[in-house]
Amino acid sequence: MANLEACASVEDYRRLARARLPRILFDYIDGGSYSEQTLRANVTAFQDVKLKQRVMIDVDKVDPTVKLFEQDMAFPVICAPVGFSGMYARRGEVQAARAAHAAGIPICLSTLSICSIEEVTRDSGAPPWFQLYIIRDRSWAVTLMQRAKAAGCKVLVLTADLQTPGTRYRDIRSGMARKLTLPEQVGRVVEGMRKFDWTRDVYLRGRPHRFGNLDGVLPREASFADAWAWIGANFDPSVNWDDLAFIRDHWDGPVVLKGVMCVEDAELAVKHGLDGIVVSNHGGRQLDSGVSTLSVLPDIANAVGDKLTVLMDGGVRSGGDVVKALQSGARGCLVGRAWAFALAAGGEFGVSRMLTTMQSEILAAQRLSAIKHFASN
Ligand code: FNR
Repeated sequence: MANLEACASVEDYRRLARARLPRILFDYIDGGSYSEQTLRANVTAFQDVKLKQRVMIDVDKVDPTVKLFEQDMAFPVICAPVGFSGMYARRGEVQAARAAHAAGIPICLSTLSICSIEEVTRDSGAPPWFQLYIIRDRSWAVTLMQRAKAAGCKVLVLTADLQTPGTRYRDIRSGMARKLTLPEQVGRVVEGMRKFDWTRDVYLRGRPHRFGNLDGVLPREASFADAWAWIGANFDPSVNWDDLAFIRDHWDGPVVLKGVMCVEDAELAVKHGLDGIVVSNHGGRQLDSGVSTLSVLPDIANAVGDKLTVLMDGGVRSGGDVVKALQSGARGCLVGRAWAFALAAGGEFGVSRMLTTMQSEILAAQRLSAIKHFASN
């Protein structure tokens, strides 16, 4: 796959991303934890769910729009929080946010983004949703919520499934999660010359490469390996349902809990007054051997779908997948790797192009299955 114009599917963007990115970054995006069973299960689960073909119904006008948390969306997709995205293309989160806003959908900015909440809001023209990780020093979470609120972010997504970082074998092999040996460092420089488009666009012209939201808590000169060590030491495994009161004290907008994978936790989310949940296993990057998100979605949606907004992510690679997830009870889907690959493949234009394709695939699936509109809440 040599150029962007020839990309038709997310797999095509993935191939182009692999050609452009240094291996350490491609493997970080593409990989999952341990034996990657859950990552694979998320994707293959979509093959087991079928859409029903309908004919002879007027589908001239079908409506892909939805309204979630009082926000109108052109189609039921949200760009998921993806850490380090500012390394996939120059100031990557800003480019992706511009593409998402132009497409009429939200992007959720990761705590671990390179571009800060303020930079993304200023340079993309609209505030993102904000994803929060809670660390042991709660005052830092308060600061982040205050910054997100000051920037105008409306929805807070609290990610709950990173109690401890899942081991990703590819990141150990590639050097993402450890310090590189000297020969490996030399190899990295050689690779940087081979992948010169990325080196020029991101490494040379895209600085600074700090985590923009972690200024003040992580040393400015921290390497990837330092960042991982810091995450392991500071992410707080004691976080529990009682902490939601603390979040509510500092955030008056909608709070969405990301990482719910069973009916028990979904019911507890209702009990604790959450506005939404994301049925998610972090894209198969945390617990391995867990089930796919699509397989648990119907039971969770049946149990709590009338009490809070059920979103899902994991394995969504096409507009058809989005429609399957909505037919299975979700009100919207987050996509992670799909936009990360498109960003690496072609920056803002790549993400725009991928989202346009996804939207047209949703419309086609709606027409061929005679789904005139989706439910909103
Ligand atoms: C993620 N994900 C993630 N989630 C989160 O809450 N905060 C984060 O910083 C990140 N970072 C991150 C990096 C990368 C490279 C990936 C691929 C994913 C998980 C993400 O939000 C989402 O749950 C999954 O990506 C969904 O699965 P798919 O769409 O990638 O299959």
